[in-house]
Amino acid sequence: MIGGTAYAKVNLGLRVGARGEDGFHPIDGIFQSVKIVDTLTLSPSEVDEIRSSDGRPVPDGIDNLAFRAAAAVRDVTNSSQPIAMGLDKTIPVAAGLGGGSADAAAALVLASRFFGVGDDTLHELAPQLGSDVPFCLRGGTARVGGRGDELESLDPLSGFVLAVVVPPFELPTPAVFTQWDTMGEPPGLRIEPNQLPPTLRGKEALVNDLYPAAVILEPQLDDWRRDLEHRWGRPVMLSGSGPSLYAFFLDQDEATDATTAVPAGARFAEPSPLSPVGWQVGTHFR
Ligand code: C5P
Repeated sequence: MIGGTAYAKVNLGLRVGARGEDGFHPIDGIFQSVKIVDTLTLSPSEVDEIRSSDGRPVPDGIDNLAFRAAAAVRDVTNSSQPIAMGLDKTIPVAAGLGGGSADAAAALVLASRFFGVGDDTLHELAPQLGSDVPFCLRGGTARVGGRGDELESLDPLSGFVLAVVVPPFELPTPAVFTQWDTMGEPPGLRIEPNQLPPTLRGKEALVNDLYPAAVILEPQLDDWRRDLEHRWGRPVMLSGSGPSLYAFFLDQDEATDATTAVPAGARFAEPSPLSPVGWQVGTHFR
């Protein structure tokens, strides 16, 4: 059996341009991997299946994006070897933290080892699986452009910890983008450079253009953000199309103190320089 770790991402900033003919919006974002992780395993099997380690089925089964990623790698090799995938989630689902994309990227890495496929194939398959998958495959800190497929790795960020809160409602990404179109591309939510942690000061303001659209679809989002800003005495930002909200803290202790007082529960997330990490148990794979 082989296994690996999938890291969530936070969009520190997400600028959006007008929808293109392909139906997607060009973006200009600063993406950061964070240490909120899912764990995946892959082994040969009699039939294709995906389960969590306690044996429970994973929602969507083999239609799950992670399984489809592994199957796409298998297709490239023309193998018909059935596989069993294990998926244990701690990344909140449909939250704007890229959990599904992170799992897909980790599954690509595992399947490439299992089926003996080179990295070029992974980079070809990643954008076909979802806009955030190419970044999740790379990990760390990156400027992301195009429809998520143009990546420029940046120096690893440090000197802060993020506190992440996931409000208890969902914001489907396509609906948020469509709402943004309908509103005539309104200006986004900003954190000015002088409100950023010392290691990020002197850099550009962070902007999430999708915030006004997300608030129209789920007005409680703005109540959540204002409440957190009041509690924490600092700007609170939206990650991706939401609903996850985050703020910068100087260290883990400060972030832990801040997150324990949040009623819905929150977690702190250290920036991570890592892309999906693969590991190996036993030798009974081909
Ligand atoms: O690629 P992904 O599956 O994340 O995209 C889901 C949907 O979000 C797309 O079908 C599209 O409607 C919207 N989207 C967009 N522009 C992007 C990314 C996603 O309009 N850059």
